[in-house]
Amino acid sequence: MHGLVVALVACLAVGSAWAGTVSISPNPFEREGRIVGGEDTTIRAHPYQVSLQTSRSSHFCGGSLINRNTVVTAAHCLQGRKASKVYVRLGSTLYNEGGLVVAVRELAYNEKYNASTMEFDVGILKLAEDVEETEDIRYIELAKETPATGTPAIVTGWGSKCYFWCMTLPKVLQAVVVNIVDWRVCASDAYKYGDIIYDTMVCGYEQKKDACQGDSGGPLVAENKLVGIVSWGYACASNLLPGVYADVAALREWINETAEKL
Ligand code: ARG
Repeated sequence: MHGLVVALVACLAVGSAWAGTVSISPNPFEREGRIVGGEDTTIRAHPYQVSLQTSRSSHFCGGSLINRNTVVTAAHCLQGRKASKVYVRLGSTLYNEGGLVVAVRELAYNEKYNASTMEFDVGILKLAEDVEETEDIRYIELAKETPATGTPAIVTGWGSKCYFWCMTLPKVLQAVVVNIVDWRVCASDAYKYGDIIYDTMVCGYEQKKDACQGDSGGPLVAENKLVGIVSWGYACASNLLPGVYADVAALREWINETAEKL
């Protein structure tokens, strides 16, 4: 259990310190980087995916475009950040070049976000300018219901492929398919987390496949709807330790209301 706790703390620490680590160049321990067990994809296949950046090419989290000026992401991606210091890159397969880079007018995350339990890990960004849909930029609909356990869903991002010793991120967007695991099933004895899984969460599981550090805030999509937001996990792609996502259906009202009033 001790190892697991250390792993979670490391995830969160790396999550918030991510921007500082991505620009480190050649690292002797670097392996091929990508979402664990995934493959190269294109932004055209996932045109709702965006990259959150501190300067114009330093990625720290993913996000999803839900209308012309709103991006949904994780609360833990926004904690301690100022809107004026966040940029969003849209419409590019590469996180570090191409597409469109837009400034952020305002940001907010759920008042009930709890950094120790990771409940309510949802936030939004209002873009400084409206963004029109193109072949490479599209708004995604929020799921109204959480898909049933076993439903395949696709998670995308520029996060790390491995848990240890991966200091640089893949430049090409990665995608991997996992299966939805309802929060109750995820908290059951079928998996290893137990009662630390809450009703604002939904899990995604497939052997040796997972999101990882740097994917946080990004989309989990099933049937063309946003069903989850990459939130946390003990290590990445570990046996019987699913990726944990903020459950969009459970958090939908907060997203819609906040998007309207900001
Ligand atoms: N907390 C990580 C981040 O900030 C995301 C971890 C997702 N982990 C997982 N095993 N699915 O990027």
